[in-house]
Amino acid sequence: MLNENPIISKQGFKYILSVLDSRYYKNTLEQLLDSIITEFPGKEFTSVSMQENHNKKRHKRIKSLRKQAQIEGIVSIVDFFNPFETVLEIGSGSGLLAHNLALQYPSAKIHCIDSNNNLVEKLKQNNLLSNLSFSAEDAFTYLPETRPDIVLSLHACGNLTDRVIDIAVSSSANIICVPCCYGKIKRRSEQPGIYFLPRSRSLSGCEDLFRKRIVRTAKKMEGGVAERKECRQTILRDIYRSLLNYDRLLYLREKGYQIHLARITPLKSEKGDRFHNSSLRYALVGIINPLGSQ
Ligand SMILES: C[S@@+](CC[C@H](N)C(=O)[O-])C[C@H]1O[C@@H](n2cnc3c(N)ncnc32)[C@H](O)[C@@H]1O
Repeated sequence: MLNENPIISKQGFKYILSVLDSRYYKNTLEQLLDSIITEFPGKEFTSVSMQENHNKKRHKRIKSLRKQAQIEGIVSIVDFFNPFETVLEIGSGSGLLAHNLALQYPSAKIHCIDSNNNLVEKLKQNNLLSNLSFSAEDAFTYLPETRPDIVLSLHACGNLTDRVIDIAVSSSANIICVPCCYGKIKRRSEQPGIYFLPRSRSLSGCEDLFRKRIVRTAKKMEGGVAERKECRQTILRDIYRSLLNYDRLLYLREKGYQIHLARITPLKSEKGDRFHNSSLRYALVGIINPLGSQ
């Protein structure tokens, strides 16, 4: 049986803040981050249809290799839920992840939504797979008609992650979501219906702490840290982002999920140095009803 990481808890949250409030060394931060983000059991998977990008310019090639690694990491987590029948991917962009899933699981139905109409039209026209479908929808007003087994989102910008969580919760579906663009997260509830963190009961009372420190620091550091440079600031940024994601995970737990902050790509490169941009390297994973008790 898969156990939750005990550090993803209110106590763990307080413990991490207490470390950040004290004097610490870079090594301490590295160990802290390693203890938060855990390995998720999954099978090895090699993605398809990206090879054609490998001759493009260097930065494009690096980007495409990074995407390839992320897709492989996500599919290996998806495999944990196998057998499954339906996957809903939200904000599917170019559809690469969905395409890989549709090929890997031919008996499953993969449906993708994205708010970009033009992109969705092109994807519909070029799609040759009968178990893959696309529709243009705004996730903030969309609810699936039937319950998907897994709700998936790779790089759900800002508060789109929170909407993805709500869509999964409302249909009691498992969830795998990689948050991104912390700079777009709202710090105040400007209009009714707009998300702002913390949402979990466990961290209620921490609103000021979130607004003034956690969301603020996670946002402030966005883009401010040299991408390829491994430094204290990068690790600190990732710890603050993890603390922000604690709230999302604890919210999921309160809704009946077993929760994990799961690594999707390795933290170290083949040369042994720490990968940059590691906050895009983990997924919020929620397993609904893991013991079959509900
Ligand atoms: C950062 S891209 C990620 C694309 C793809 N998942 C990937 O990893 O390459 C975010 C995607 O979410 C879509 N998106 C943004 N807001 C959305 C919304 N409210 N509803 C549905 N899709 C949305 C965008 O059009 C875009 O394709």
